[in-house]
Amino acid sequence: MIQPRLGVCYYPEHWPASWWAEDARQMMEMGIRQVRIGEFCWSRVEPQPGAFDWDWLDKAVQVLAEAGLQVVMCTPTATPPKWLVDLDPDMLAVGPDGRPRGFGSRRHYDFSSDRYLAQAQRITRAFGERYGHHPAVVAWQTDNEYGCHDTVVSYSPQAVRRFRGWLRQRYGDVAALNQAWGNVFWSQEYADFDEVDAPVGTVTEANPAHRLDYQRFASDEVRRFNRAQCEILRSLSPGRALVHNFMQLFTGFDHHQVAADLDVASWDSYPIGALEMFWFSEQDKRRWLRTGHPDFTAFHHDLYRGMSRQPFWVMEQQPGPVNWATWNPAPAAGMVRVWTWEAFAHGAEVVSYFRWRQAPFGQEQMHAGLQTPDRQRDVGGAEAAQVAAELRRLPPLQTGRARVALVLDYESLWLLGVQPQGGDYNGLQLAFECYSALRSLGLDLDIVPPDTDLGGYALVVLPAVALVSDALLRRLQATAAQVVLYPRAGSKKDPVHIPDGLPPGTLRRLIDLRVPRVESLRPGVQDTVRLVGQRERHASARWRETLDIGSGVEVLARYADGAAALVRQGRTRYLAGWFSPALQRRVLESAAVDAGLTPVRLPEGLRIRRRSELLFAFNYLDRPQTLDVPQAQWLVGGPTVTAHGLAIARRRST
Ligand code: GAL
Repeated sequence: MIQPRLGVCYYPEHWPASWWAEDARQMMEMGIRQVRIGEFCWSRVEPQPGAFDWDWLDKAVQVLAEAGLQVVMCTPTATPPKWLVDLDPDMLAVGPDGRPRGFGSRRHYDFSSDRYLAQAQRITRAFGERYGHHPAVVAWQTDNEYGCHDTVVSYSPQAVRRFRGWLRQRYGDVAALNQAWGNVFWSQEYADFDEVDAPVGTVTEANPAHRLDYQRFASDEVRRFNRAQCEILRSLSPGRALVHNFMQLFTGFDHHQVAADLDVASWDSYPIGALEMFWFSEQDKRRWLRTGHPDFTAFHHDLYRGMSRQPFWVMEQQPGPVNWATWNPAPAAGMVRVWTWEAFAHGAEVVSYFRWRQAPFGQEQMHAGLQTPDRQRDVGGAEAAQVAAELRRLPPLQTGRARVALVLDYESLWLLGVQPQGGDYNGLQLAFECYSALRSLGLDLDIVPPDTDLGGYALVVLPAVALVSDALLRRLQATAAQVVLYPRAGSKKDPVHIPDGLPPGTLRRLIDLRVPRVESLRPGVQDTVRLVGQRERHASARWRETLDIGSGVEVLARYADGAAALVRQGRTRYLAGWFSPALQRRVLESAAVDAGLTPVRLPEGLRIRRRSELLFAFNYLDRPQTLDVPQAQWLVGGPTVTAHGLAIARRRST
């Protein structure tokens, strides 16, 4: 059972101490119960090396606690102060241009710097010793948004040194490395691990295996850094949840692995900023301008729920216009409420808004908060208060497993990024489109890592899993689920080799085919696809595969020239192209029906999510939409879901 609650991100050091008590009182009055503090305050806590000033932070914690708020304390390691950089300039990460990252914003440190790691451990220990047993401190956030501003990979001398050690451990001897990377190609063979550099500055693209391994190494460095903080906090602050705030549409490190050292995976939700800054079409950017894409927050809720040991959180929720996208429209009235409820519908325990009050100075002064800089409640604040009131009317929420699993594998996403083979091939985008198609059929999903037990799922989809481990293969063979393989499934053998017998490699045990040729197509070029026995024409673009199929394989759709576009053997389907969203929906719909599920084609902008006997409906359109739920008792709203609104029903049937 989960008792959802609201939180907020607060920076006491930005405001006069005389305001804190009133701020805390207003938070409580609004229904906020949790407050995150401390995350960027290193220069205030330790203004000079070794000279700590805890007074102000002690007081802030006390004031917040006295008001009844629970505190999430952060380690301040995302913003090492100037004196520390001057003391040890080698702690700075180095960009692909060979230049150290400058001081003056944040995240300038190098994950591979042992000396910075020691500093991070030292300040973490200091925080842990000070607040580890404080009764109001219920959780810790490690650092802030690992990888934000493209900071996972560093090309510093210390990173290269540690990369060589990483390779030595992985491959044992250099002949094995040469073999694995295919270094005989272009005379790239090494005689010693110490000859290997970072894959940067080469004349043309560096060996893809070299690049993939560098990404893996960089990901392990993030894990090492986070784990070091976790170990300290676990011993100094027993019983408190360890949390990190992950990002949206970000795959720079293996989040499953980093989350394994935490208790709670949380994420930072900025649906409108993300719509503007990511791959969405011009049409989508206009259509969802003030709402974000209807599947965007749900995708991340399902992703982070899938890696969180305890119920996941939204650590930062967009409350109004942000400052960092190219254009920064305001959310439509009602959307802050919708996003918040969507998180709870997907299993969140906490939704915490970023930030309490808009700052009148610094980089983010154009970023809205729940309050305006002059201490007045802003639109987002009013909607948060509304959610708090509604929450009181709801019973604690139950969690449960979905029937559909989408397998997401970070290594495969890196591989597809290292070797896209087409200018716009993006594995994460395809995974999102697949997710969106399933959601538009009213299905609830779990997004799971490749080492998940797939038993109990009725439908399993692999939209971007190019590397298939033996363990994953065994699980796919063992499940009774319908399996949908997207193009490039199993197309590489670790690290970056074409598999024996050609793609889909070992997945051939599920479906008897080989892929002798793939091609990528520039924007604007489309193939036509028709499902066998149907007249409707669909589009496929970007990517097309030629299939060589065995006699037991049935063709379910063909390209206009007669070639197989979609095939099936037993309970496995394989897509030989990047199908349009409408065609993905058709394919997934029939797989869902074969899986014994009951897909429902939802109208545009309407989404549903079930949690035990509760059904949540969300309307992303600017006009009301009606939902047919037989025998519903409406707890919030009714069957006609208001524009940019939501409804919650208790289902009496089923
Ligand atoms: C997040 C970050 C916050 C703040 C916010 C602004 O990425 O964690 O510190 O910068 O964006 O939207």
